[in-house]
Amino acid sequence: MSTPRAKPKYYLTTPLYYTNGMPHIGHTYSTIVADVIRRYKRMRGFDVFMTTGADEHGVNVERSAQKAGKSPQEFSTEIAVQWKRLWDDLGIPGDEFIRTTDEKHHRTVQWLFKRCRDNGFIEKGRYTGQYCVHDNAYVVDAGPGDACPDCGRPTETVTEENYFFKLSEFQQKLLDFYAANPDFIQPESRRNEVLSFVNGGLKNLSITRTTIRWGIPVPGEAPHVFYVWFDALIGYLSAVGGPNYDERGLWPADLHIVGKEIIRFHAVYWPAFLMAADLPLPRQIWAHGWLLFDSEKMSKSRGNVVRPRPIVSAIGIEPLRYYLLREIVFGQDGSFSYDALVTRYNSDLANGLGNLASRTLTMIERYFGGEIPKPAPRPRKETEAPSTAEYATEALTKVMHLYDRLSFSLALESIWEIVAMIDKYITVEKPWTLAEKPEDRERLATVLYNAAEGLRIVTALAHPVLPEATQKIWHQLGQAEALSGVQLDVLSWGQLKPGTKTGKPEGIFPRVDKSETIARIETMEQEQNKAPETPGAAAASTPATPGAAAAPAVAASAKIGIEDFAKVEMRVGQVKSAERVAGADKLLQLQVDIGDEVRQIVAGLALAYKPEDLVGRKVVVVTNLQPRKLRGVESNGMIVAASLPDGAPVLAGFLEDVPVGAKLK
Ligand code: MSP
Repeated sequence: MSTPRAKPKYYLTTPLYYTNGMPHIGHTYSTIVADVIRRYKRMRGFDVFMTTGADEHGVNVERSAQKAGKSPQEFSTEIAVQWKRLWDDLGIPGDEFIRTTDEKHHRTVQWLFKRCRDNGFIEKGRYTGQYCVHDNAYVVDAGPGDACPDCGRPTETVTEENYFFKLSEFQQKLLDFYAANPDFIQPESRRNEVLSFVNGGLKNLSITRTTIRWGIPVPGEAPHVFYVWFDALIGYLSAVGGPNYDERGLWPADLHIVGKEIIRFHAVYWPAFLMAADLPLPRQIWAHGWLLFDSEKMSKSRGNVVRPRPIVSAIGIEPLRYYLLREIVFGQDGSFSYDALVTRYNSDLANGLGNLASRTLTMIERYFGGEIPKPAPRPRKETEAPSTAEYATEALTKVMHLYDRLSFSLALESIWEIVAMIDKYITVEKPWTLAEKPEDRERLATVLYNAAEGLRIVTALAHPVLPEATQKIWHQLGQAEALSGVQLDVLSWGQLKPGTKTGKPEGIFPRVDKSETIARIETMEQEQNKAPETPGAAAASTPATPGAAAAPAVAASAKIGIEDFAKVEMRVGQVKSAERVAGADKLLQLQVDIGDEVRQIVAGLALAYKPEDLVGRKVVVVTNLQPRKLRGVESNGMIVAASLPDGAPVLAGFLEDVPVGAKLK
């Protein structure tokens, strides 16, 4: 007798999140994606291990703690605990929550440093540079007083003696590695970005600080502490054994899921650190895009964050998971909207999968006493059943292929095509009519068998995204085992056994009223925003998040009075000049004449309009918005545009000629 073969291991990670703030829906997106991959890989026969965690050191946490009147350790622990609790509550905890304050992480960082140093890749040097405290990064090519190109905040000039990692020695090694491993960086656009960065030459990297106290000590080198990336990245390894990584067989990681803004650290620094230490390199880094609100990355400092808890309380975690994976093309930016979330819920989950499950199971209960009927052996010329089977069988292979490529949106689209196909099949075959004539009994049995079998396949395929709902439907179909243990490779048409007792059909996704649901989320958001966001933050001079969160999406649904509308001042403007904003592919910097002055406005129009085509064009401008900075460029107003389903903007305009400066009412 042969012993069962051990399952191959699969190790994946989320970023380790900073503990100077609480999770928003952008962070939640990363962790949900990793959880979906984790569940999918399990259904493909892997022994999966997922790490998430907290990145706790650095100036930001040190300062936030000081403001809150707490020690960094105390402050950071309180926040790390809340991150962990949230992932637990949302059912996306991973297998390990590594904290960079964990003793095992300290040991791993110090060990890795020693290996790099023994191999000759660490040296001492002096560093003077512009540093963005908020982003925990030096700003290359910036001078004193310059703003950070990412967040727009002023940079600080820092000079200190540091340990440097000799990154410059890794340029060719990295390029060779990327060439030999073309799938290492995904998607393609990020790979190109990293290649051009590395091709441009690599400077040595300062990896310790003497100005910060809140960090992991460099052994025997007080007051040096390790600094940000030569700390956080190593958490992926600390989580699975650190110096003893080979004992658990989980290193190298198969996949690091990250947001696009940290691709460079993962795809350049991290492999270089590991090469320097003679350790195996991760197999793939996948950078997803950003969830945008109002064409901007959601972030606490911009005050446009959406929190997950209110959404989950109002509508549930599964609709949120489905919406994020279905609506946002993985790897690209996507706009988050409550309206789209609830619309997707009602159309795809309530009316789609939920309705299919309930009508199929109800009819099986009504016409066959809650037992899966036996389909008639069908002559080949009667095409309905074979085509249903063929369709589902083909879809199975296609969906697995799409999941493998992390094309979640397309995978779900294909699964929901099966849902639509079965729905249509039921509508065409009309089981309720067949049930009226005893001579149609066989045909009725076949139709309901096919519907139930199609539903079973859909349920298994959708499980990584909708784990609880699909498990319920699976049980209702009389399947006893845990769906998470089902292997997709062996799933095939016809495995549903006639005679299986089905469970009581229960509503899985009740329809919801859109405006009422959005209003509930809004109320909960506001409640949540009243509470201090970080421990002790109420006492701080700048509360972390003012109640502005989520306002843009909510405004779309709630009714407002005319007096609210009157608060918005809109005028006809004329574009005088337009140019691209460096480093931001969507943004244009415009000078717009609004009658009595020329305003500088930064607008997310660059993907739809060439700068030269806008010059002279009349546009509608919201003129009384608070100024704000986008990519470090001040914007004094907003250009009004319609947003197409793919997010492309279309400028609002007039058919008649209108004078510049005219007010809109
Ligand atoms: N601590 C570093 C990561 C170290 S990894 C060894 C860090 N932390 S973070 O708290 O800022 O989290 C960043 C990650 O959160 C992003 O890479 C991304 O995965 C996720 N997101 C944060 N805002 C986001 C959006 N608006 N949209 C989508 N994901 C975003 O960087």
